[in-house]
Amino acid sequence: MANFGTEIVAVINKLQDVFSAVGLSTSSIDLPQICVLGSQSSGKSSVLENIVGRDFLPRGSGIVTRRPLILQLINRPATPNAPAANGIQKSAADPFINENEWGEFLHLPGEKFYDFTKIRAEIVRDTEAKTGKNAGISPVPINLRIFSPNVLTLTLVDLPGLTKVPVGDQPKDIERQIRDMLMKYISRPSCIILAVTPGNTDLANSDGLKMAREVDPDGTRTIGVLTKIDLMDAGTDVIDILAGRVIPLRLGYVPVVNRGQRDIDTSKPISAALDAEKNFFENHPSYRSKAQYCGTPYLARRLNMILMHHIRNTLPDIKTRVSQQLQKFNAELAALGGALGDQNPGNVVLSVITEFTSEFRTMIDGNTNDLAVNE
Ligand code: GDP
Ligand code: NA
Ligand code: MG
Repeated sequence: MANFGTEIVAVINKLQDVFSAVGLSTSSIDLPQICVLGSQSSGKSSVLENIVGRDFLPRGSGIVTRRPLILQLINRPATPNAPAANGIQKSAADPFINENEWGEFLHLPGEKFYDFTKIRAEIVRDTEAKTGKNAGISPVPINLRIFSPNVLTLTLVDLPGLTKVPVGDQPKDIERQIRDMLMKYISRPSCIILAVTPGNTDLANSDGLKMAREVDPDGTRTIGVLTKIDLMDAGTDVIDILAGRVIPLRLGYVPVVNRGQRDIDTSKPISAALDAEKNFFENHPSYRSKAQYCGTPYLARRLNMILMHHIRNTLPDIKTRVSQQLQKFNAELAALGGALGDQNPGNVVLSVITEFTSEFRTMIDGNTNDLAVNE
């Protein structure tokens, strides 16, 4: 599950250590939520799953994601020689099973899921329990936490897709119901929007992009993701879109190839899917020369950079809060008749943050090219 890169995980962990030393909570960093937005079956769940690097989301044709899934990834150091947890069995369906990575649902307190295929089964079960087996949707979210040494502490949100025509028992106003649900998530300024559009459909008709523009007119927090590039007609490609000649986006577009329905039916492993994606872009006449700007690993790196920039923008505020706490602490000490001056442990923490900020800035600026529009 290391697709976000270990660099940023290390950065956040270091910051969190410093924070806990001064009694600020982890939430001081206020990492954004990443939400997927797009039409039904555009590939939203597939994109999220590839980014996390594990199989656990229900995917498929039709309306599969029928409730928001709020997925909290929580970084937790591996316990060396962790005792094999109860119920852990090596599974052919999930060969990555191990005692340091598990999921927990809010609605099943205390139950740990080490087998990620069982996580998927539980998402399906609870969706049906709350919305029925038909195509009903519900705004009541499923809350899932995944603990792992390899993830960045961060929240991803899988959302139902935009749809126009009611099917099955769906209410007549299904389109508005879904829109309202999505708006609640994507209008938050701290939400990074992955606007997902299949490459084999007309970008100008992309409902996801249109909606993203409503809440993020300057395009500072919207990334375009183009899926199903492998299904495009021979001789067509998305080069014009990538070059910003169709609907320009400040943060640009990333083309990806996810698993097709047949891959899902035959349980093609995620690692094989990522290899196939790499091969596809490296050997395609249109993308060969820019293959390093294509595919899921590149998308993950871009998200990584956006998060880094976000942290950098958040740091000055964090520093102010630490200084204020320090002043208060000093004033209290003085009132008690003593002052620690330079010996004050709080000063040490502040200088660590200052040093860290400049170190971090150098690191980001060295990587800033990653955020330029890819052409
Ligand atoms: P969602 O409804 O937007 O969450 O879409 P899903 O992730 O469930 O995918 C819908 C269907 O499209 C599934 O059958 C996927 O296998 C298929 N799919 C998604 N992305 C791609 C892709 O890049 N290439 C191919 N061939 N199929 C894809
Ligand atoms: Na779907
Ligand atoms: Mg879905």
